[in-house]
Amino acid sequence: MRVLLIGSGGREHALAWKIAASPLLTKLYAAPGNPGIGREAELVRLDIADHAAVVRFCRENEIDLVVVGPEGPLVAGIADDLRAQGIRVFGPSKAAARLEGSKGFTKDLCARYGIPTAAYGRFGDLASARAYVEKTGAPIVIKADGLAAGKGVTVAMTLDEALAALEACFDGSFGQAGAEVVVEEFLTGEEASFFCLCDGTTALPFGTAQDHKRLSDGDTGPNTGGMGAYSPAPVMTPEMIDRTMREIVEPTMRGMAETGAPFSGVLFAGLMITDKGPKLIEYNTRFGDPECQVLMMRLKDDLLVLLNAAADGQLAHTSVRWRDEAALTVVMAARGYPGTPEKGSVIRGVEAAAGEGVEIFHAGTAINGGALVANGGRVLNITAAGRTVGEAQKKAYAALDRIDWPQGFCRRDIGWLAVAREQAN
Ligand code: AMP
Ligand code: GLY
Repeated sequence: MRVLLIGSGGREHALAWKIAASPLLTKLYAAPGNPGIGREAELVRLDIADHAAVVRFCRENEIDLVVVGPEGPLVAGIADDLRAQGIRVFGPSKAAARLEGSKGFTKDLCARYGIPTAAYGRFGDLASARAYVEKTGAPIVIKADGLAAGKGVTVAMTLDEALAALEACFDGSFGQAGAEVVVEEFLTGEEASFFCLCDGTTALPFGTAQDHKRLSDGDTGPNTGGMGAYSPAPVMTPEMIDRTMREIVEPTMRGMAETGAPFSGVLFAGLMITDKGPKLIEYNTRFGDPECQVLMMRLKDDLLVLLNAAADGQLAHTSVRWRDEAALTVVMAARGYPGTPEKGSVIRGVEAAAGEGVEIFHAGTAINGGALVANGGRVLNITAAGRTVGEAQKKAYAALDRIDWPQGFCRRDIGWLAVAREQAN
């Protein structure tokens, strides 16, 4: 099979690594990719926002399957434009990607299908949003409706914070994404990420993880795209997975099919496990980054077989097997992240740091004058497998400490909650 992978982050490096291991693969291209992905795939210069150019590339290179990593191209309709030309795609249509692209769309679907989620209101102007927030009181959660690169959510512990967040949205801080606002009830519990592979009709559970969104140790500091993750998530017991499938994922699949936008691709449910059971915080319509890295580390089966089954509507006849191990990944970021990261600092010792059960996935890296340099905020994902989360954590940090990059930083406590639980048992 000839495959084109779209994207350039750590998530896509992990996908490339797993796709490249498939006996079905004859040729892997990646656009635009990064130097790590370049070890697994031929990198192609393609403007992925130019869908006609992507179609042309697929035709000229006889691509059998396009795998779309990030949400941006999905929300822009790349899957529709490829399918319209008869090219097979793993990833949802533009209409189905609204599950990630519009928080209001998802909340309305939850309301119609009785899917447990935080109580909410949708507002298109400051005055009515303000009135709702003043009536409800804090703590309360303010969300820009559209894609805001993970920055559109404010968990406001006070009324003043909530009102300031509303003003920022309607001031245009998030551009068009903030023209509409969702105001939500504040949920308490433990968060978990739950993944399903979907083919329009069937959703196949595809692993659990927990990520660390905050910048600093002890889950403090500003929100980021994710500073580390581990899998599996201990709160996602088999019973909790069954409930999540029945109460959240299956009604969503039914609702999307009934509204004429059947969902295929990865459905990533961000959950709050409350004392009343699982509640949906949000959907993403792609793999999590860095959650994908730990899932790929644990996946026993051939990823390409599974992606094909999803693309062809064959998931009802498919199962997934996992290694009997935990995996953990630590993000190394460039100084300045999540604000303006410093680019260009030289990173040494990456190849030598990997080893048995340790993979180092590249995210924001580049080659400059033959040297590996930082070229983004989140730069490397040091990923390890172990019998326990604690063992994976030790291996990941031991590898990380062999990397010579003075301008990089990381959290030192990824997996702390799971490790504390393991030690208590
Ligand atoms: P998001 O960008 O939608 O993933 O939200 C970022 C983070 O905000 C989530 O991971 C949660 O920690 C928090 N959050 C979002 N919605 C709620 C809610 N309704 N109640 C409590 N926390 C929330
Ligand atoms: N790590 C969270 C996300 O990918 O959205």
